[in-house]
Amino acid sequence: MPEPIRSISQRFPGVPTIEGAGVRLRRTFANREVPLFDPFLLLDSFGSSRPEDYLAGFPWHPHRGIETVTYVLDGRVEHGDTLGNSGVIGAGDVQWMNSGSGIIHQEMPQRTDGPMAGFQLWVNLPAREKMSAPAYRGLTGRDIPEVSTGDGVRAKVVAGTFGGVEGPVRGIPVDPTYLDVRVDPGATVELPAGPGRTAFAHAIEGAGSFDGGDPAPVAPGETALFGPGSRVRFRAGDAGGRFLFVTGRPLHEPVAWYGPIVMNRNDELVEAMRELDRGEFVKHRRPIVEE
Ligand code: FE2
Repeated sequence: MPEPIRSISQRFPGVPTIEGAGVRLRRTFANREVPLFDPFLLLDSFGSSRPEDYLAGFPWHPHRGIETVTYVLDGRVEHGDTLGNSGVIGAGDVQWMNSGSGIIHQEMPQRTDGPMAGFQLWVNLPAREKMSAPAYRGLTGRDIPEVSTGDGVRAKVVAGTFGGVEGPVRGIPVDPTYLDVRVDPGATVELPAGPGRTAFAHAIEGAGSFDGGDPAPVAPGETALFGPGSRVRFRAGDAGGRFLFVTGRPLHEPVAWYGPIVMNRNDELVEAMRELDRGEFVKHRRPIVEE
């Protein structure tokens, strides 16, 4: 029988990285961690009060074979894509974008007086879904329920279920849970993370420890990947704690990865590059309609 409370199996401090047209961010995990985080491919965190760290943004670029999940904590990110979506992702909003067979989009953080902060998570698609039609979900903060369990714990539920409340993002192949959890000083929370699922937590603010054998506190910016078990327990320190909590069903499929395109085989990457060269990459396109 596996220990029901999961221990931390590995910690990731995050590595300063320059991405897009020159955005300074911290990369928690990516290519080198395949298959540790399967079905998750990458987690970047943005956080800066210096516009020169983020204004260059992520101009028009392609994606194929993945879902990109952008969660903005502070500031604003303007976006547009070849499906005809365009708008602004503001503080508290989530964009859950399924690139499927191909999308070309841009993600441009806007100048703000305060901090610009947020996350981008890449969720892998199973082989059978990689060439499906792209789909876009734009959720405002109001669309995302916040659950209070009455014992010093609040969680915004983007995907999955917590406290009997299901998040608005449903029907994703790897059945993800995506929570933004806040725990009052000294309070404890137990989070479901069923056997066989990949589970990790990324600390945002405060401090606390995840039980189950490794009580050393997890500091803001640090990510804890959990070993086997069926749930995760967190006890907040004196300042309380806030963290992203993410779980999903692993795919156990080969990964062939080139930049923003993640497939199963190298010949699929070559084909994607050839299609980009020929202007045949985007299979589903809607013209941008002025409203
Ligand atoms: Fe992108």
